[in-house]
Amino acid sequence: MALHDEIARRRTFAVIAHPDAGKTTLTEKLLLFGGAIHVAGAVKSNKIKKGATSDFMEIERQRGISVATAVMGFEYAGCKINILDTPGHEDFAEDTYRTLTAVDSVIIVIDGAKGVEAQTRKLMEVCRMRKTPVIVFINKLDRPSKEPFDLLDEVEKELHIRVRPLAFPISNGPTFKGVYNLYEKSLSLFTSDEKQTADASTVEIRDLQAPALAEHIGAKFAEQLRQDVELVEGVYDAFDREAYLRGELAPVFFGSAVNNFGVRELLECFVRIAPAPRPAPTETRTVEPQEGKMTGFVFKIHANMDPNHRDRIAFLKICSGTFERNKNYLHVRSGKQMKFSSPTAFMAEKKSVIDTAYPGDIVGLHDTGNFKIGDTFTEGEPLKFTGIPSFAPEQFRYIENADPMKFKQLAKGIDQLMDEGVAQLFTSSLNGRKIIGTVGALQFEVIQYRLEHEYNASCRWEPISIYKACWIESDNASQLADFKKRKHTNMAVDKHGRDVFLADTSYALALAQENFKDIRFSFASEF
Ligand code: G4P
Repeated sequence: MALHDEIARRRTFAVIAHPDAGKTTLTEKLLLFGGAIHVAGAVKSNKIKKGATSDFMEIERQRGISVATAVMGFEYAGCKINILDTPGHEDFAEDTYRTLTAVDSVIIVIDGAKGVEAQTRKLMEVCRMRKTPVIVFINKLDRPSKEPFDLLDEVEKELHIRVRPLAFPISNGPTFKGVYNLYEKSLSLFTSDEKQTADASTVEIRDLQAPALAEHIGAKFAEQLRQDVELVEGVYDAFDREAYLRGELAPVFFGSAVNNFGVRELLECFVRIAPAPRPAPTETRTVEPQEGKMTGFVFKIHANMDPNHRDRIAFLKICSGTFERNKNYLHVRSGKQMKFSSPTAFMAEKKSVIDTAYPGDIVGLHDTGNFKIGDTFTEGEPLKFTGIPSFAPEQFRYIENADPMKFKQLAKGIDQLMDEGVAQLFTSSLNGRKIIGTVGALQFEVIQYRLEHEYNASCRWEPISIYKACWIESDNASQLADFKKRKHTNMAVDKHGRDVFLADTSYALALAQENFKDIRFSFASEF
């Protein structure tokens, strides 16, 4: 198949949700449709259960699962679909944000009873920044849920995106009857059957006035559906795919993932409307997927589970051209040529060595500690992909060496864990001490545990009171110098030597922003 056709049939996306909304369940059902798995329960949730913060073995086990399920590929309706998994626990949100840089679209799952939740809002923020096309799946309609129009309004208001329902539910909870597919003009009848693996019983109803409708769902619900559909058609414009592709309009589906209900409609529509691999911006130019030469970037690095092999897997997203096994590529940051003898692809539960991969695909590369998140591979051009975010951490501690004999091990461990994007390292300008900043408190425990088990080093944490770290830049050199002098005790540098202001309080930050107008304070930096 020509490169052009391979690209056109690829759909690389992530399912994102607030924990417990049904992300894992929906992913599993999508894989069932794709024939990638055959029994329910094959995809383990990679979420770290609440309250498991001190159970390190659990964390390790979960990490293992998330390697296995990091990318799940399958074929459906002629498309090659790649689902990128994201961690469920919000302390690992940064990992999710980075994964979002490697997808071309997302499906957001929302719990029909709870509506839009905190984590959904944050994730949507990242999608909006990147103009990622979004499809919304409102889940758990088999349970008492909010009213569909209220949910649609809530999504629109809370996620700041226009919506367009493409399916509409008929009641919910104990009286849930099914979903009317506005796209195909057919009715899917709900039968609560957990074993269901393929189609729900579907009736084609072109004319909602036809008496057949009431035969299926009863007169009362038939009348309600007629009114609802009339309202939908009256209130919402026709679905505009271009607006969806620009990230301005989200089609909305309703269903019940655990009952495999409404999932087929979602998937059918997804393969039709979701974008194939999109152009990717670099510091110098935009890379088009159709370009003949291979380019790609590392968006995730995962340490090996086996303590005897301290190697890692780097996940490379192919952006253009054809990736080939045993071919030399330029590792742009080091300027070295590298070739890979056993690059892996991921198909549902299996991992296999591949010879070629195309834009949209994710390739697992064996890494002995040379790669960092954001690293670019090309056929010679010194490109650097942009937009791989590193978010301002919100939790901070001094890290101290607890074993003077293991200084080197500690330094190496910290270095590698930072490359993996587990946390960020800052060096205080005041006293030269090392400060680790994370998005969630759980990471401190993970770091300590991993330093001990993977690097044979031990560390100690000491408290430090910081409200936020933000990167500062200015074209006004004298104001910048003045700021750094005055805030000397609150200044630090990150691992790239960039200036970081460690604000003690939100008040101190606001004051600094007020008094130093020429300085840009940013809360996300790039790798
Ligand atoms: P997550 O990955 O987004 O965190 O959510 P997950 O799929 O693990 O689902 C969270 C819980 O919601 C699970 O129950 C799951 O069975 C349930 N669930 C998912 N979809 C539906 C649905 O359509 N209807 C209903 N009623 N429940 C749904 P759990 O009790 O936490 O786990 P389990 O023991 O059932 O696996």
